[in-house]
Amino acid sequence: MSSRIENHPILGKPETGRKVSFTYDGKKYYGFEGEPIAAALKASGVMVHRYTQKEHRPRGIFCAIGRCTDCVMVVNGKPNIRTCVTPLEEGMTVETQYGVSSIMQKRKAE
Ligand code: FES
Repeated sequence: MSSRIENHPILGKPETGRKVSFTYDGKKYYGFEGEPIAAALKASGVMVHRYTQKEHRPRGIFCAIGRCTDCVMVVNGKPNIRTCVTPLEEGMTVETQYGVSSIMQKRKAE
C-alpha cells in the first residue's frame, strides 16, 4: 500500500517522472524518476534510513532539505548520501546505513 498523495485537495495531481524500479535492502521498490529517494521510500512506508553507530538509534527524514544528515543512506555502494535531496534513478541500489556502512554489510559480518 502506498502512502503517496495522488490528488492533493489544493495542489491537485503532482507532476511525476516516469515510473522506475530500485532496490531497498535487497527488495524491489518503485518510485518516480527525479523525485527524492526519500520520497519514494516514504511513499512505500519506509521510515528508518539509518541507525546511529554508538547508540543504535533509528533516524529518518528530519529537515528534508539536505541539512541534518538524518536521512543518509548507502546509495549505489556509497555511504552518507542525503536521500532527501538526491534524485531517484532507474536501478539504484539503496541500503539502510549503519554507522558508515550498509546494514546488509553489518548483517553479513555477524
Ligand atoms: S532529512 Fe535532513 S538531510 Fe535529509
